[in-house]
Amino acid sequence: MENILTLGIETSCDETAAAVLRGGRELLSNIISTQIPLHQKFGGVVPEIASRKHIVNIMPVIDEAINKAGVNLREINQIAVTKGPGLAGALLVGLSAAKSLAYALKIPLIAVNHLEGHIFANFLSSPKLEPPFLSLVVSGGHTALIKMTDYNRFELLGQSRDDAAGEAFDKIARVMGLPYPGGPEIDKLAKCGNSDAVTFPHPKVIGYDFSFSGLKSAVLNYLNTAQMKGEEINSADVAASFQKTVVDALTEKTLAAAEEFKLDKIVLAGGVAANSSLEKNLREACDLRGLEFFYPTKILCTDNAAMIACRGFYQKTFADSTLNAVPNLGL
Ligand code: KG4
Ligand code: ZN
Repeated sequence: MENILTLGIETSCDETAAAVLRGGRELLSNIISTQIPLHQKFGGVVPEIASRKHIVNIMPVIDEAINKAGVNLREINQIAVTKGPGLAGALLVGLSAAKSLAYALKIPLIAVNHLEGHIFANFLSSPKLEPPFLSLVVSGGHTALIKMTDYNRFELLGQSRDDAAGEAFDKIARVMGLPYPGGPEIDKLAKCGNSDAVTFPHPKVIGYDFSFSGLKSAVLNYLNTAQMKGEEINSADVAASFQKTVVDALTEKTLAAAEEFKLDKIVLAGGVAANSSLEKNLREACDLRGLEFFYPTKILCTDNAAMIACRGFYQKTFADSTLNAVPNLGL
């Protein structure tokens, strides 16, 4: 098992990615071709353009992953590919490449849930990490608290009832005139702002579910009102105050769940895990309570195929040639 070579393929949104993994934790290559500059002028991902660009990129990216890993395509033992959630057309490009290669090479195909993949990025950044643990998954499309008791046992404790955390970051950044994707831009801007300057309503949801649409509307109203009155706003203060409200809500629920379910390891995952304030806040809160804190290196936070290969390695269930994309796949 330790020498099994898994080729991971990921095309669920705007990154064309391929990676080669040896065993469960040894990453040999991790190639990501991002389409962000292409979508930036539209202020967000254009699905049709994403699919077309994946078609152009997918084989060169796979070739590069194989070459960088220093292996031969014939040495690959299995292929793990994202089946969902994501954009239908984009997913189909990765799935078609994976299915054809698996068929031609006569090797097993593994269909991976992208959200589970995000959690598994942590096994690559922290090779000693083992379940059980509590994971906070925060991406552009999802916000969820998951109890993972084994590599193949996930329990969804709560999730966003409306906007995902990343979605709120992106929408507010867009209104503030910042480029896509907005999360990293708000993160940067917030560093020069005062997080206590503006009081936004703290999202109030019972249990472990989240809600960010009320907060998003409050920030948008604040910006619109200021614009109508011709008042100057301090964008850094708005960014810092909004970010703090999101980070506090995420941290609070995560700690409460860790306490109720008696889990002493907290694992952060998804694109928003790259947020410096979320990482710092959660780390400090964990340190105070004697909880162990894990989060992926920056390159493994956002979409990549290394996490898909890692999830595939531990999955132990295989797909066949009827495998199709599942754009709204849940956990
Ligand atoms: O996981 P991901 O790469 O794609 C999805 O599966 O959705 O997450 C992308 C999301 C975007 O909303 C992006 O704005 C957000 O992650 N993001 C951040 C940061 N870096 C990426 N949000 C806040 N702060 C960041 N530093
Ligand atoms: Zn993702």
